[in-house]
Amino acid sequence: MSVSVPTMYEVRVDGHLDDRWFGGLDGLVIARDTGHTSTLVCPVADQAQLHGLLGRLRDVGVTLLSLRVMPPVDGATAVGSQPALGRPLRTDRLILRPAGIDDADVTWRYRRLESVTEWTTSAPADLDAYRGIFGNPARLAATVVVELHQGAPVGQVIGDLMVRREDAWSQREVAGRARGAQAELGWALDPAHSGHGYATEAMRELIRHCFEDLGIRRVVASCFLDNEASWRLMERLGMRREVHAVRESLHRRGQWLDSVGYALLAEEWPTAP
Ligand SMILES: CC(C)(COP(=O)(O)OP(=O)(O)OC[C@H]1O[C@@H](n2cnc3c(N)ncnc32)[C@H](O)[C@@H]1OP(=O)(O)O)[C@@H](O)C(=O)NCCC(=O)NCCS
Repeated sequence: MSVSVPTMYEVRVDGHLDDRWFGGLDGLVIARDTGHTSTLVCPVADQAQLHGLLGRLRDVGVTLLSLRVMPPVDGATAVGSQPALGRPLRTDRLILRPAGIDDADVTWRYRRLESVTEWTTSAPADLDAYRGIFGNPARLAATVVVELHQGAPVGQVIGDLMVRREDAWSQREVAGRARGAQAELGWALDPAHSGHGYATEAMRELIRHCFEDLGIRRVVASCFLDNEASWRLMERLGMRREVHAVRESLHRRGQWLDSVGYALLAEEWPTAP
């Protein structure tokens, strides 16, 4: 499967820009620097889009300090709307493929279940609301769909994963080396298919892909401490618990809950049994 990859542009301007001036520019990230400048990073598909971005800056009336094409990071980046997965991956029992907009309906089958929304960021009221969230370009680009190719029924979508590539924190002088250096991972499995090791198998392949194919140096994931199935999955994958934050995350039921953060470095891979 071939995917057209937009070029990433970095634009530095004088002054601190407000996000609301740039609504509708998919994947745009604005960093406000201490020296009273702003740096915009934006995926640009073609010249027309580039002119649109520059026109927007002109309309806002800011002074352009520099404009450059950013060097590509190997594979993909989640800054913007580039797909997290450029091609399907295959394991013994599963196919992992980039999500498409049409996958909203099939993932809604399990994404709407209370046992899943109990732990997920959003609990959309109906399919239309879910389609709106699922179809967000940045979210879609970070979503990987998991299909069975062994066992019944073949071809069935049984879950979805998230892989969101991001910059590691760094000091400014070495920021280029930190760009796209880590990825945040996530998952949701249809409860009808839990207990067979599918999530472990899928995530193990996705982590392998991050480290071996994309050159990512660290993967991270987090969940509520009460979400035992999730942190047990992370431990099966060999991830290390690095954070236990006390009453740090607000559940939609209104309670502040503990959360845990896990990570794994490329040099620690493969670690899982
Ligand atoms: C988190 C989640 C993916 C875990 O699902 P899961 O079914 O427990 O995980 P796996 O598919 O890897 O299956 C592991 C189980 O299958 C068993 N298993 C059977 N065959 C296996 C195999 N070949 N390999 C590994 N495990 C196997 C394991 O022993 C384990 O069972 P246990 O929990 O009784 O010990 C699932 O609970 C989920 O989607 N939750 C809702 C969404 C969610 O919480 N998302 C994260 C928000 S932060």
